[in-house]
Amino acid sequence: MTQTTKNIKTAVKELLSGKVVALPTETVYGLSANALIADSVLKIFEIKKRPQFNPLIVHILDIADIERYAKIIPKEVYILAENFSPGPITFVLKKKRIIPDVVTSGLDSVALRIPSHQMFREVLQASGIPIAAPSANMFGRISPTTAKEVMKELNGKVNYVLDGGRCKVGIESTVISFLDEGIKILRPGFITKNDIEKTIGKKVSRGKNTDITSPGLLKFHYAPLTPLYIVDNIKELKGLKNKNVGLLDFSNYKDLRKLASNFFSSLRKYDESKYNFIAAQKVLSEGLGIAINDRLEKASKGKIKLKNGELKIIKKK
Ligand code: TXA
Ligand code: MG
Repeated sequence: MTQTTKNIKTAVKELLSGKVVALPTETVYGLSANALIADSVLKIFEIKKRPQFNPLIVHILDIADIERYAKIIPKEVYILAENFSPGPITFVLKKKRIIPDVVTSGLDSVALRIPSHQMFREVLQASGIPIAAPSANMFGRISPTTAKEVMKELNGKVNYVLDGGRCKVGIESTVISFLDEGIKILRPGFITKNDIEKTIGKKVSRGKNTDITSPGLLKFHYAPLTPLYIVDNIKELKGLKNKNVGLLDFSNYKDLRKLASNFFSSLRKYDESKYNFIAAQKVLSEGLGIAINDRLEKASKGKIKLKNGELKIIKKK
């Protein structure tokens, strides 16, 4: 049986005894374990059924911790951390040996993030350990942004979910790499490319982390069980509503922050509505819209359009 709690001490006790516990962060809920204990970290992979080639983020309390777990830290990391940490930005750096290989899937780099959610910070402070945590969903499914949603994913699989309310940011952190090849955004997130470039005063490139995960394997991520297709002009599908099609129009949103905060919950709600399929139109691909569209793309099975009165599906390769 899994229990929801607001007691920090309960979560700390679980972590310190080597167990896995679900914790709130400002982005999404995380499935957490002591990052320094390989056996505990292994449990995360087992519970989520996550392939072991996909490395985890290590959550730390402050900038000083970056130096504890990583080396060769360029000045841009400090500049970005001073501006955006604690918050939704993750730095990929050369790892120190203290981080077990299972955390990084054998890579010699580690992803470090300083989260801002008050309860997560209290757990970090009280436990004194770095915390490895991927999103608290089963592998490939929709990331949970409330304790109730975590329960739907993990009931019976952990003892406790620490309830920290709805995640304010709502989509996962921006992952940015500082390895030999230069500065690269590996995953778009709440902190945008523009935010980053303005802050460090130089251009960064958009990298892909397909080189660390077998290409193709992760093409459906964040996926609902109901098939979801991207549509360019959702208005052309309005006539299909009576055919039990869920129409999700993100294109009209003005407040992208608010949209991000509710994004995974709306996907989940539509997924639970037993539609034959869901058709979604993207937001404008600008700023935070890039990160939202990235999640939508990964949730989709391809594109759909109405041609001469007939539905045409173009499946993802
Ligand atoms: O907002 C977030 O980042 C949330 C909360 C819980 O902190 N966590 C999260 O974790 O989204 P996860 O496991 O779902 O995503 C971690 C991402 C993956 O894309 C992974 O490939 C990348 O970080 N990553 C981790 N370590 C890496 C490394 N050493 N090199 C490159 N990418 C890495
Ligand atoms: Mg995830």
